[in-house]
Order: sequence, then C-alpha cells, then structure tokens
Amino acid sequence: MSADNTGRPHFASRIGFIFAAAGSAVGLGNIWGFPTQVANHGGGAFIIIYLLVMILLAVPALYAELSIGFIARANPVEALRDACRKHPTQKPLFGSVLGFVSLTAAIFMLGFYSILAGWMLAHSLGSVFSAIGWEKGVEFVTQNTVQRNLSFCLLVTSLTAGIIFAGVKRGIEAWSKRLMPLLLLLLGSLIIYVLFLPGAQQGLALFLRPDFDAFLQPKLYLAAMGQAFFSLSVGVGGMMIYGSYLRRDENLGRLTMTVAGLDTLVAFMAGLLIIPALFAAQSIGETIMSNGELIGRSQLIFDVLPRLFDSLGWFGNVVGFIFFTLLSIASITSTISSTEVPVSYLIESKKQSRNAAVLLVSITVLALSTLIVFNFELLFRAIIALLTHYTLPLMGLMYFVVIGWIRPWPSDLNNEGIFKTLLRMHIKYICPILMLCVFVSVM
Ligand code: PHE
Repeated sequence: MSADNTGRPHFASRIGFIFAAAGSAVGLGNIWGFPTQVANHGGGAFIIIYLLVMILLAVPALYAELSIGFIARANPVEALRDACRKHPTQKPLFGSVLGFVSLTAAIFMLGFYSILAGWMLAHSLGSVFSAIGWEKGVEFVTQNTVQRNLSFCLLVTSLTAGIIFAGVKRGIEAWSKRLMPLLLLLLGSLIIYVLFLPGAQQGLALFLRPDFDAFLQPKLYLAAMGQAFFSLSVGVGGMMIYGSYLRRDENLGRLTMTVAGLDTLVAFMAGLLIIPALFAAQSIGETIMSNGELIGRSQLIFDVLPRLFDSLGWFGNVVGFIFFTLLSIASITSTISSTEVPVSYLIESKKQSRNAAVLLVSITVLALSTLIVFNFELLFRAIIALLTHYTLPLMGLMYFVVIGWIRPWPSDLNNEGIFKTLLRMHIKYICPILMLCVFVSVM
C-alpha cells in the first residue's frame, strides 16, 4: 500500500482521487433516484432547483467535508475531534460525537445500500441466465426472497471487502480507475440505444419541461436538498476520509468542482436514459404512471424495464445485462467509500490491522443488512428516509458549523484571495441559514 512519510496511505494520483470520489458520489442515487425524482417533482422544475441547491449548498458541503479530512489527515472521528479542539474554548467532545454519528450513518447506509446493490447484481446475473435459458436460475435471482436478498448482500459485502483489503492505492484507487470509465461507457451506449426506441421522445419531454406550479411546493426543496446531499455522498464521512488521503499540494476547490460536475453529469445522463426508457415501455402497453406520478420505484426498475427488454427478444438480455451491470458498478463504487470510514477508524484509532478491520466492519454490515431483510417492511424505508432526508443534510450543516464557526479558517487551504473570503462568508452564514429555511418550511 502506498504511504506518505507519516506512514498513512494516500492516493497515488489526482485522477485516482477524482475517480474514487466520483465513484463514491455516482451511485443508485444518480441513476435510479434522480430521474424518478425529476419525473415526480415537476420535470425541469426539479432540475433547476436541484442545480441551485447543488451550487449553493451541496458543493460547499462537499468542500467542507473534504477539507476537514484534508487538513487533519485522519479518519472522520479524529478529524472532527481535531477540528473542534482548535476552537478557543476547545470542544473535542462535540467533535467526537459528530465523528461517531458519521461513522454510524456510514454503517446504516451500508446496511440498506448493500441490499439494493445486491438486487442489481442479481438482476444482472438474471440476464445471463435468461440468455442461456436457465429458467430456475432466473427465478431465484429475480424473485424477492429472503434467500436471494441475503446471498446477494453477502456477495456485495465480499466484493467491497475484497477491494478495501487491497488498500487505498491498489484497492480503492485501482478499482475506481477501472470501473468508472466502464460505467460512463455503458451509460453512454444505453442512452444512444434507448433514445431511438418508439415512445422515448415523450419521456425526454417530461424530463426536460418544467412544471411551474411545482416551484411553489416546499416539498420540492426538501427533496432536492436530500437528493443533492445523498448524491454527493456528503454526511457519512466517506468524502472526509478520501480528502485525508489527498496529497498536501492538491487544489481542493478545483477537485471539489470536478467531482460535483461529474456526479451531476451522470445524474443528468441517467435522466436521458431512464425516463425515455419508461416511456418506451409505456408505448408497448406498460403502465408507468398513476395519478400523475410514476408508480413505485422498484416496480419500474425490476418489472417495467425488464418487460421492455424482453420485448426486444434475445438482444433484450444484452441490454438488460448492460443496464443492471451499470447499476451494480455504480453501487459497488459507492459502498467502498462508506466502508473505508469505520475501517480507517479501527486501523488508526484502535490499532487494528487492515484485514481485521475490514472483517469486523463487513460482519457488522452483514448483521445489520440481515436484520433489515428480516424486518423489511418495518426498517427498509424508514432507514432510507431517516438517512437521506435528515441525517445526511444535518451532518452537512454540522460540517458548515465546524468549518465556519468552530475551527479557525485554515490557512493551509490553497485558495487565497477574494474567492476564499466569499466562500468563507458563504459557508459561515448563508449555507446554515438556507438549510434551516428548507427544514423549517416543511415542518
Ligand atoms: N452518492 C451515492 C449515490 O448517489 C450514495 C452514497 C451516500 C454513497 C453516502 C456513499 C455515502 O447513490
């Protein structure tokens, strides 16, 4: 594993960091979440508010999270404790609490995300089984059973653990550099294919045309904020740990913009794929809307789209395989960063070996996923809602407070001048006020 002269691992190259951080950001939130949110919240109206929230809040939050790690060069618990210790009245306890909330959020996030990622892997395998005509196999991987969910959770956790075992440079960086270009290639080819299917143009119109009434609904702003924070992976400390593995001489501002730009580009591209594909399915007789809203999200991905693929004959297996492989890659690159959060804590603060830390974290995540699988109705949606609507944005707010109010503005962030002053004011005053407004408006 690559290490700097303090013995800490670090990314070997700037592009390696960009792919790893973009890999964490680009996930099911972009490819599955964003397009359905757009369709349900006024089309182009959601896109406009999303972009606004992204620029005003989520990108500064990503910058704040990355910089806390970048300055402290430590895992999120130590980094937040260290940042809060810098305050004249010293608040290390507050920092530790924030650190442990991030760490717990990372584990809960993995608990449900591994189940979702497992579904994607299962359906991708389903296309292979269907292509070779193995009906029993297709049945096992496409039916929502406890056995299927648990075995694919185990597969996702093992794949993630395998990558993290290999360390920052040979595992996280090397695999992100392989998987992210592949993801872009698969996404690009699917868009070109789907846009030529009959009915696709109608979906394109819904995706892009703004419904002006939607601007008046406070729900739209909360949804856009939750989506933007989730999409940039802000709030669980994954970006913080990646920031801590960056070289000292990197320009954090520019890297933040690059990662956020890539994430938004992929979300937008996914919209060009999913909504037109759903309308193509509608044109062959599938129901996709009820009461002006898209029907249940999992139904769309796991029932409606597969039936569209089936209608394409044997070639539909190829399209289905590419589609679900795309979603599988997007989810695995996202589980990596969240797993590294508790792993880095166990290595640095509890002096565990990397192997022992990965094993312990993987077992904990599997136990949590198992609990969720057995209490699916009760826990699954509740955990997702709690994390995406509240925990992630609230942690983002805390990062603003830490960087804006508690830790003296770091002189070692290398963007001097007027931009730095404006950014400091923005993070200190405008971001917290804007976020409070959104929370209050929906109470
Ligand atoms: N950003 C990921 C997505 O869009 C989700 C995620 C959140 C990943 C938090 C890691 C940490 O799907």
